[in-house]
Amino acid sequence: MRAMILVAAIAALGIGVALAQDRQDQADAARAIEGAAEEETVLPDGEGRSETFAYCTVCHNTALIRRNRLSRDQWDGLMDWMSEKHGMNPLEGEFRDTIVNYLATHFGPAQAPARGRNPFLN
Ligand code: HEC
Repeated sequence: MRAMILVAAIAALGIGVALAQDRQDQADAARAIEGAAEEETVLPDGEGRSETFAYCTVCHNTALIRRNRLSRDQWDGLMDWMSEKHGMNPLEGEFRDTIVNYLATHFGPAQAPARGRNPFLN
């Protein structure tokens, strides 16, 4: 009889620990999702920011953009690469100019190096 009570107590303890762990996992997951959401303000203020943020964050966040320092021609070429290779809706006309101008102005070669860039990988 004593053994059975002991077994039951150990089992109850185990379930309690498992439930607590589960709650912790759920809280961690919720935080990770919150952390992944980006606001437009992660990009530097300027003309074309809203357009760029809206158009470019459909498939990936802005980290891919922010860690690059490219010339206007390179950004322009990247727009074609993004549509040809990755299925982005082609960017054309004034709308394309607005976005390429924004990128070249704020993420051009003259801009400060991206924070957190690993100097050993570049
Ligand atoms: C239809 C989906 C889609 C859209 C919209 C999109 N991209 Fe991408 N982009 C991708 C994919 C897929 C990759 C490749 C990711 C990888 O290599 O892991 C990528 C990679 C990149 C890279 C990294 C290139 C490198 O050197 O590795 C940059 C910079 C980039 N995108 C910028 C942009 C900009 C700027 C826009 C808006 C004009 C944009 N993307 C819109 C799908 C998209």
